[in-house]
Amino acid sequence: MKILIGIPFVFGLLVYKLRTRHLSTFNAIENFLRSQNNLIPISYSYSDIKKMTKGFREKLGEGGYGSVYKGKLRSGRDVAVKILGKNKSNGQDFINEVTTTGRIHHVNIVRLVGYCADMSHCALVYDFMPNGSLEKYLCCKKSGIHSLTWEKKQAITLGVAQGIEYLHRGCDMRILHFDIKPHNILLDDNFTPKISDFGLAKSYSNETSIVTITAARGTIGYVAPELINRGIGAVSYKADV
Ligand SMILES: Nc1ncnc2c1ncn2[C@@H]1O[C@H](COP(=O)(O)OP(=O)(O)OP(=O)(O)O)[C@@H](O)[C@H]1O
Ligand SMILES: [Mg+2]
Repeated sequence: MKILIGIPFVFGLLVYKLRTRHLSTFNAIENFLRSQNNLIPISYSYSDIKKMTKGFREKLGEGGYGSVYKGKLRSGRDVAVKILGKNKSNGQDFINEVTTTGRIHHVNIVRLVGYCADMSHCALVYDFMPNGSLEKYLCCKKSGIHSLTWEKKQAITLGVAQGIEYLHRGCDMRILHFDIKPHNILLDDNFTPKISDFGLAKSYSNETSIVTITAARGTIGYVAPELINRGIGAVSYKADV
């Protein structure tokens, strides 16, 4: 009698133990993935954006597509929030940025934490780069900014080249940035360079060398000459180099 009751009891206990162990492993995996918010960009509402920037209190700067504000996530992580101006963006830059930066991860590419496409508001949330952009170090006359040592300059140059090589040869697509310039090279707390601003970027298959583009892209003064004058030569990945 004891054996008859005992065997199913022990068997049931064993099944229960195995299931709870499996579930707790699953919960641990899920919690880990949730805490690793940087695997894929997060979709934020406009009110989240207002909260994280404390009502757009601290402006970091302004570019061709909108203003950038400092923000903080609930986890304590510092971010930079770019609000795309309504008349300055046609929406395609926003889509380019989310689809390219959102799926690539490299030490020399700025991390897109999330985005907001809420009503008519478009915003991009990036990792905050405490040392700002490279152009302010190239003009030594700006007050309060120290010029970089040659070692730092070399390390930055190498880092930018590694970021560009990753875009051109390291992803499943060939990504051409088309707007490489000192303003779009951000520097973290160790002065590690991060390529930013993928609004003009385009993706091609890895085999593509010569590309066709419909309109001139880039910033005057930095743009590759063949992008302005097609008579100079064909447009290829070399436009970024
Ligand atoms: N992730 C970031 N962390 C810290 N500062 C940032 C970040 N992203 C942008 N900034 C700062 O915000 C300012 C504006 O950047 P934005 O990219 O809008 O314009 P830009 O690069 O100067 O010009 P363009 O619009 O041609 O790219 C820059 O001075 C830059 O230093
Ligand atoms: Mg920029």
